[in-house]
Amino acid sequence: MPDPFRHYEGVPLLDLPANPPVPDMPALAVLNGISGIRPRVDGSTFLSQLLFYSAAISTSKRSPTGYRYALRVNPSSGNLHPTEFHFFTQGLNDWPDGLYHYRPSAHMAEQRALGHPGLKLAGGSAPIVFVLTSLAWREVWKYGDRAYRYCLLDIGHAWQALALAARAMGCDTFATGHFPDDEVAQLLRPHEDEWPMLIVEVRGASIPVCEQDARETVWYGGKANQISADTTACSRIDVIHEATKLRHWATPRISAAEPDPTGSGEINLPPHASSSLAVSRAFGDVARMRRSALNFLGGMQSMSLAQLSAILAVAARPFSADFAGEPFIRLYLYVHRVDGLQPGVYRLGSDTAGLEQIRSGDQRVAAAGLSLAQELAGNACVAFSMIGDLDRAARAHGDRGYRYVHFEAGAIGHRMYLAAEALGLGATGMGAFYDEEVHRYLNLTPEQGQVVYHFAIGYPVPDSRLSA
Ligand SMILES: Cc1cc2nc3c(=O)[nH]c(=O)nc-3n(C[C@H](O)[C@H](O)[C@H](O)COP(=O)(O)O)c2cc1C
Repeated sequence: MPDPFRHYEGVPLLDLPANPPVPDMPALAVLNGISGIRPRVDGSTFLSQLLFYSAAISTSKRSPTGYRYALRVNPSSGNLHPTEFHFFTQGLNDWPDGLYHYRPSAHMAEQRALGHPGLKLAGGSAPIVFVLTSLAWREVWKYGDRAYRYCLLDIGHAWQALALAARAMGCDTFATGHFPDDEVAQLLRPHEDEWPMLIVEVRGASIPVCEQDARETVWYGGKANQISADTTACSRIDVIHEATKLRHWATPRISAAEPDPTGSGEINLPPHASSSLAVSRAFGDVARMRRSALNFLGGMQSMSLAQLSAILAVAARPFSADFAGEPFIRLYLYVHRVDGLQPGVYRLGSDTAGLEQIRSGDQRVAAAGLSLAQELAGNACVAFSMIGDLDRAARAHGDRGYRYVHFEAGAIGHRMYLAAEALGLGATGMGAFYDEEVHRYLNLTPEQGQVVYHFAIGYPVPDSRLSA
């Protein structure tokens, strides 16, 4: 197994203060677009808080053989964490302008350059700009060609982890997927095995800023650690990645994304009460307590329709990104135990206010079977297939659209993880499913899209291997 931690050795290491303040805005409020209170902190504490609630190690697990391994705030397929967090800063209080790489194993920042090596990325103005990269072969080791999709889904999760933590701290984010890959790589100078995937600008009055440093750029770079003695080559992934690259800066044609052609559902979902937003647990606690359930308690305990409705409302909120116009993802639900809904398969209407039933009867065996025989999809209260309209994405954004569909699916998954956790439930993202069987079972024509992600929500089986 490759090392899940990339380090850039030989560069100055800057401390991110331990135990930064907890963003205490209720999690459901943040998930519904309400910003947190402005923290009064310096630059290093601000960065520490942002990363502690989006990308840091949050707990560890002991395997039956006694091996202890780290789990992080952002989930990742196989816990392999192909996503690396790089960030440029300018004008932060008590924090030198420069380019950094986050070192989660020590909650520190590796200073790869001083000055303003990436000004062009931020349009010259955002005080913090993240560039999320994928280290694909860390994932290829386990998943082969399919790893490319998992890397893209993981980026979607990491993006939302950052965006929501920033919002809980009173900031806004904007994600840019449409950039020339090689040019951004030249600004960032990562090891050649890391590919820039998404740029996330963080702005807002709560960021502690001062005058910018006037200094010249000084490069330290750093020597990237080798994450395994044997590299795993995957030429097909290199080809797919190359095909989705852009050569120039360009504004994506968001308006070119035609509306989703399918209509609304006939079963109305109850609107969630705004009073419920204020009573959910603090965002900071929910973000760090979030875990993937290994399995769910089957049995009789059901979730309420109001809980399902609240989770779907959060999933359907618009995204702040240059590729986010008409959504490309449509949710199909395998309902097992939701009060007030007959077991069956449902499709969420494009207006997201209603469900349309497309199959009736017990779906537990089908949901588990389609999810590569993973029991958790049958023991959950509800499981999902996320169907991505890849054709519509390609018409709007060319081959680059393939990435955006997966980013959107990962981002929806991340919101559902946190909403489920905030409501006292648990969740698990599932990249493992039988694609063609899902299409057949849901009667999908190629024009209706392809399955890109599975998900399950229910009551988790307690996991005794987790540490506090
Ligand atoms: C894109 C993606 C795909 C995943 N696929 C599966 C899966 O098929 N089955 C499963 O049990 N867990 C799956 N997971 C959950 C991961 O195993 C889990 O996130 C990882 O072990 C870290 O645990 P944590 O989420 O509790 O931090 C997936 C997670 C992601 C983000």
